[in-house]
Amino acid sequence: LGCETHFFETVESTQTEIHALARAGAPEGTVVIADEQVKGKGRLGRSWHSPPGSGIWMSVLLRPKLELQRCPQLTLVAAVAIVETIREQTGLPLMIKWPNDLLLNGKKVCGILTELRAESDCVDYIALGIGINVSSASFPSELADIATSLSIEQQGQAPLRTPLIKRLLEKLEELYFLYVEQGFSAIKPRWEAHALMLGKPITARRVNSATLQGIAIGIDEQGALLLRMEDGRTEHIYSADIDMG
Ligand code: BTN
Repeated sequence: LGCETHFFETVESTQTEIHALARAGAPEGTVVIADEQVKGKGRLGRSWHSPPGSGIWMSVLLRPKLELQRCPQLTLVAAVAIVETIREQTGLPLMIKWPNDLLLNGKKVCGILTELRAESDCVDYIALGIGINVSSASFPSELADIATSLSIEQQGQAPLRTPLIKRLLEKLEELYFLYVEQGFSAIKPRWEAHALMLGKPITARRVNSATLQGIAIGIDEQGALLLRMEDGRTEHIYSADIDMG
């Protein structure tokens, strides 16, 4: 991954750039990195705060030969790669909040946005977007209570972005090929080792579907969150916002 890397000072969103490159036939592993995004995209149509020089705003193009329903697992593969890289480089105890948030001390430090393009029943490509708050010293008031950066959590010391990106791409490549060759079972224990809410009560707010409360007991082979309900049934959650408690 990253053999073909495009750097930009300012873009609307690295996802928009990677989609354009993908449609023009760019190879798997193409990476777009920007110093600033003026329309950074989050999950569920939200925006992603991406001021200049303060984070890693990056999109990676993947062209896996996978069945469509397995693709959500790539978010979990990326989460493991990011957690392991940042823990290794900084010692900070990042945790994964299913499906795509990485937290430090209960605040979000990184988000993952996995966008899929498919033709009939086949994956054309996946745009894997990764946003890591590296050196932001503060956040706008609406984010102040829920977001943090590596530098805030290290008393003002921020790791350098370039070595972090390099190591992250190496780790992502290692785990991506492990996953493609051996399946999700090779990744699952590493995901579970850093999962924040296993064994804890959670509320899953689903889009266009009822909100569910239960105990998070694990993930299934597709990457869906398993929720043990009060009546003993197990629900498989494919997409939701999760509140702890
Ligand atoms: C989320 O937590 O909602 C996902 C956030 C993903 C943000 C990254 S930053 C790089 C890439 N480009 C974007 O516009 N979004 C993703």
